[in-house]
Amino acid sequence: MLKSILFLVSTLLVAKTYADDSTAESLYGTWSSKSNQVFTGPGFYDPVDELLIEPSLPGLSYSFTEDGYFEEATYQVSANPKKPGCPVAAVIYQHGTYNISSNGTLVLTPIKVDGRQLLSDPCNDDGTSVYSRYNQTETFKSFAVGVDPYHGIYKLQLYQFDGSPLQPLYLAYRPPMMLPTETLNPTDNSDDSASETGSSNSKRSLSELVKRGLENKHRTNAVKNNHQGFIFSNVFWYVSMVLLGVGSIAFLAY
Ligand SMILES: *[C@@H]1O[C@H](CO)[C@@H](O)[C@H](O)[C@H]1NC(C)=O
Ligand SMILES: *[C@@H]1O[C@H](CO)[C@@H](O)[C@H](O)[C@H]1NC(C)=O
Ligand SMILES: *[C@@H]1O[C@H](CO)[C@@H](O)[C@H](O)[C@H]1NC(C)=O
Repeated sequence: MLKSILFLVSTLLVAKTYADDSTAESLYGTWSSKSNQVFTGPGFYDPVDELLIEPSLPGLSYSFTEDGYFEEATYQVSANPKKPGCPVAAVIYQHGTYNISSNGTLVLTPIKVDGRQLLSDPCNDDGTSVYSRYNQTETFKSFAVGVDPYHGIYKLQLYQFDGSPLQPLYLAYRPPMMLPTETLNPTDNSDDSASETGSSNSKRSLSELVKRGLENKHRTNAVKNNHQGFIFSNVFWYVSMVLLGVGSIAFLAY
């Protein structure tokens, strides 16, 4: 009797912990790829000076609010198979709204005037990265949030339109670390702004546009959900549930 109750309790616990979830509530937070170097928010893009801040390692990050807003930060380096010494690097910032269809498809619709890209093609751009506006609607066929059994932390798996999985993302902050969700640069056409590609303003020197500094990083009150803390709270939760279970069994026995 006792054994079977304990078994039932632990089965329910395991089911609760590992069940994958595909709701807006489960997306809530800031997610980052394994390198844990790329995060959305003011440490990646400074909208006042329109600076993209290059992270120290490639990676990607997505943030989602519970009320339909997203933010994306990616730093990707693609190897050039023909010229190994000529990798192309792209730093991209976008934000906007997201929508989950009843069939599970997740669509990210950016605010077109706010996206920015810094493209570095060292063998073809004379050492000058190209800074430009960027907008790209992203469609994911489906997504799933669950606990990674190996790392013991929340994992977000996004599946691209063709069904292939993106690299897994791990929960870094909840509440999410994000810039304001409204339009940041409505119709900015001043000399200072990023202009359309083709004009002389679209090319600026790398040092002007990329700050490796982290001076903006702590302007948010979002709490870093560090892994140990998470495991600890999970263990704590387990222990309390087991105690609760033992308590109810003791109660039933008398
Ligand atoms: C997604 O779009 C549909 C139709 O445009 C809308 O009814 C629904 O509220 C949207 N969902 C979210 C989460 O924004
Ligand atoms: C899911 O629904 C969306 C819009 O409702 C549609 O555009 C998309 O093609 C659908 N995806 C699949 C895999 O059926
Ligand atoms: C969005 O991107 C497309 C394709 O790059 C471009 O033609 C268009 O001008 C962009 N829109 C805005 C508002 O920047």
